[in-house]
Amino acid sequence: MNTSDYNFIAEAYKRSKQLPFRLYVESYSLHQMMGDITGFNILDLACGEGFYTRKLKEAGANRVLGVDLSAKMIELAEAHERTHLIGCQYLVSDVAKLPYLGIFDKVVAMYLLNYARTKEELVSYCRAAYHQLRSGGFFIGYNDNPFNPVEEYSSYRKYGFTKQAKEDRQEGDPIHYTFYNTDDTVFTFDNYYLRPQTYAEAFTEAGFTRFQWVAPELHPSQLDDPFWGQFMTHPPVIGFLAEKK
Ligand SMILES: C[S@@+](CC[C@H](N)C(=O)[O-])C[C@H]1O[C@@H](n2cnc3c(N)ncnc32)[C@H](O)[C@@H]1O
Repeated sequence: MNTSDYNFIAEAYKRSKQLPFRLYVESYSLHQMMGDITGFNILDLACGEGFYTRKLKEAGANRVLGVDLSAKMIELAEAHERTHLIGCQYLVSDVAKLPYLGIFDKVVAMYLLNYARTKEELVSYCRAAYHQLRSGGFFIGYNDNPFNPVEEYSSYRKYGFTKQAKEDRQEGDPIHYTFYNTDDTVFTFDNYYLRPQTYAEAFTEAGFTRFQWVAPELHPSQLDDPFWGQFMTHPPVIGFLAEKK
């Protein structure tokens, strides 16, 4: 089994969304980066089982379309849609082979880009986002943090996961994540390392005029809690934002 195949870990991954860092850092930071999305059309690339697709729709977006490679992830997303009627649409597709789906005000990718093993693959994901965006639109998301030193990788256990990689990680090397859910299930998957400079070059090659990393933000209710010290000092994940002029 390929442990990065989300058809095998879909349910466990969905449950990992209950870990506190998902709510107090990931979800809060995305919300801050997105701003007011009332009436916007949004494309959610690598939407998984629709955790953020739903949140975006519930935050007032107009059309929200989620795309994912994993049929099992989309099955979970559609099952939720059937019972809750939130109004999200879903599609199974490889982002690198995405057909033209319309013009969107914002494109989101929560943990897609870290699946690229090469600069070419990364450029193909960035191009897919660029082509579906209106001019003046933003491509926003979260990613494995390529600035995160390997020495810190084992230090996130109290947040519900650890990371592992070769000490001298090189372009395309796996970053092995092990997640420990609150219900005691453990699951693993691999992301891939590409240098920060490779990301900057890929966004430029795809046509984006502005690309920046965005440091994670902690929900105001947690600011006095020392629990978050390591996570916020050495963020294992990081946001990004790019603009199409
Ligand atoms: C870590 S999960 C994130 C899911 C969701 N964005 C979230 O934050 O809950 C990564 C997702 O990326 C999807 N994925 C990986 N490579 C992809 C590709 N080339 N095209 C579309 N989806 C992809 C996987 O199937 C998986 O559902």
